[in-house]
Amino acid sequence: ERADALPYDLAGVRVVISAGGTREPLDPVRFLGNRSSGKQGFALARAAAQRGATVTVVAGSTAEPGDPAGVEIIRVTTAEELSDEMTKRAAEADVVIMAAAVADFRPVSVADAKIKKGAEGPAPIELTTNPDILRGLVESRDAGRIPADTVIVGFAAETGDETGGVLDHGRAKFARKGCDLLVVNAVGDGKAFGTEDNTGWLLSSSGTETALPLGSKTLMASRILDEVRALVPDGDR
Ligand code: CTP
Ligand code: CA
Repeated sequence: ERADALPYDLAGVRVVISAGGTREPLDPVRFLGNRSSGKQGFALARAAAQRGATVTVVAGSTAEPGDPAGVEIIRVTTAEELSDEMTKRAAEADVVIMAAAVADFRPVSVADAKIKKGAEGPAPIELTTNPDILRGLVESRDAGRIPADTVIVGFAAETGDETGGVLDHGRAKFARKGCDLLVVNAVGDGKAFGTEDNTGWLLSSSGTETALPLGSKTLMASRILDEVRALVPDGDR
């Protein structure tokens, strides 16, 4: 066996991955969005498919030229649409990975017609909070609506601030979300969004904290899948 051969260790494993950013409409031509490229989610999808998994990607807006090959792709626009698809598909999955950048807020109302500039100047945009899809998946598992052995993976894009560093914020988020693995990415200074490389930590519910050295999103994907595979029950692969 060649030392550089890709592992084929996810045969029979059903993986559902959210990728890209959501867009929250304001009127027929405008939306609130974010800079997610979808690269990390797509890299995970490609790597999982190469390792034998059956992969579905639920994708919002992405900046990737090509969809990953050998993968089912479902397109969505808003956080609510993403929530519906992920909730439905999680029931049939062994592994669910929330790599999407979900808008935390959406406009309360969507204008039927294009908002005009008018003479009075801009009106404030009232926002409401979107569902927390990752938290909802963990709650569904706790409530028995999805199988107890479903592996749930979250992402956290963090910057350090006066209250703590990237890892501190990552640990706090991990405790709040209740997922099995949290990929903590250091962002800002040109890191993560739209770039080819990622760095950070992988936190697991068994208490391990693995540093992810700066490297390609492909390498990051393979590190994440190594940890995911160890959590998938034998009967599912
Ligand atoms: N996420 C989600 N639903 C949301 C917001 C986030 O499922 N409405 C998921 C993301 O896909 C990611 C994880 O939760 O896997 C963390 O997202 P993040 O934006 O870092 O966390 P928030 O809980 O939104 O906290 P904040 O943005 O305030 O840091
Ligand atoms: Ca958020």
